[in-house]
Amino acid sequence: MTLTLTNVSQQDVTAVSADSKHLLDVDSLTPEQIHKLRERASEFRQLRASRPFKSDSLRGGSIYTLFFENSTRTRVSFEHAGKALGADVINIAASTSSVSKGESLLNTVLTLDAMGIDALIVRHPHSGSPHFIARHVDAVVINAGDGAHGHPTQALLDVLTLQDHLGNLQGAKLALVGDILYSRVARSDIIAFRKMGVEISIAGPPTLLPQDWAPGENSLGVPDTEVTVHESVEDAIRDADAIMCLRLQLERQTSGLLPDVNEYSRVWGINAQRLALAKPGAPVMHPGPMNEGLEISTDIAHGSLSLVENQVENGVAMRMAVLEHYCGPTREIL
Ligand code: NCD
Repeated sequence: MTLTLTNVSQQDVTAVSADSKHLLDVDSLTPEQIHKLRERASEFRQLRASRPFKSDSLRGGSIYTLFFENSTRTRVSFEHAGKALGADVINIAASTSSVSKGESLLNTVLTLDAMGIDALIVRHPHSGSPHFIARHVDAVVINAGDGAHGHPTQALLDVLTLQDHLGNLQGAKLALVGDILYSRVARSDIIAFRKMGVEISIAGPPTLLPQDWAPGENSLGVPDTEVTVHESVEDAIRDADAIMCLRLQLERQTSGLLPDVNEYSRVWGINAQRLALAKPGAPVMHPGPMNEGLEISTDIAHGSLSLVENQVENGVAMRMAVLEHYCGPTREIL
């Protein structure tokens, strides 16, 4: 799967993606760094269990969230995480900023940077936007989802959630099902889980897979991202240790990729009958928001095998670990 870049040059992506000052995707993290973030997030989760948890490790710091797309879990969990660590968190929705008067992305972030911020957490519909921003601001940039490209903190919290449930990820089989082409979660999850030694089976409509993917072995075109594409969801799920169900990204599709959403649900949806093909007790994850009745049935979404709420809880803990590392004075944990 290649980046679909709009208004952003490949130079922006390559120039900053190896810069450990920012978190732009999971590509640049080593397995050891992912382990450390996961361990720190586990500690935060335990600390948060004995509420109220408040630390002052980021006291005096200012974190801005700048979202050009809607969000519930990601934006709120970053805010929660920043505040729990004592930072001032300011939320900017592009729709209520001067972006609506025509201000460019560059001028918007230069304006914010001039206010002396420590971190900018960005969500943008164009792939590569956080990389572009990182080249122009002093602040640390954290990618909270860019187009169909990446969503690093989602992948990190998914690793935490599945590791907690299975105990060991090495050699585990994860079935990733649904809209792979437009899902930034799919791309970041594949990279992160492969780094953890997870085997990945893929199933989805051929029109929602990267163009050159056919049944059999494929990869994202970056090292160690091999996956096996299956022709049916049943084949992908069979004997899986866990299932990651992806949202149908209708807002990113142009036209004609799906004949009918009911047909999608019938052929690709995760339901009890299909889940029975996985290993006994195999959990189901979904990054949210869920289209219940479409890519996932309601009984599975809220059933005993669903880890969806664990993912949300882990989202706050993982974003605390990420903010502590990337914005803290010591950067000591990695
Ligand atoms: C995802 C996103 O926005 O990429 N959601 C999230 O951050 N929890 C997945 C999605 O929108 O399908």
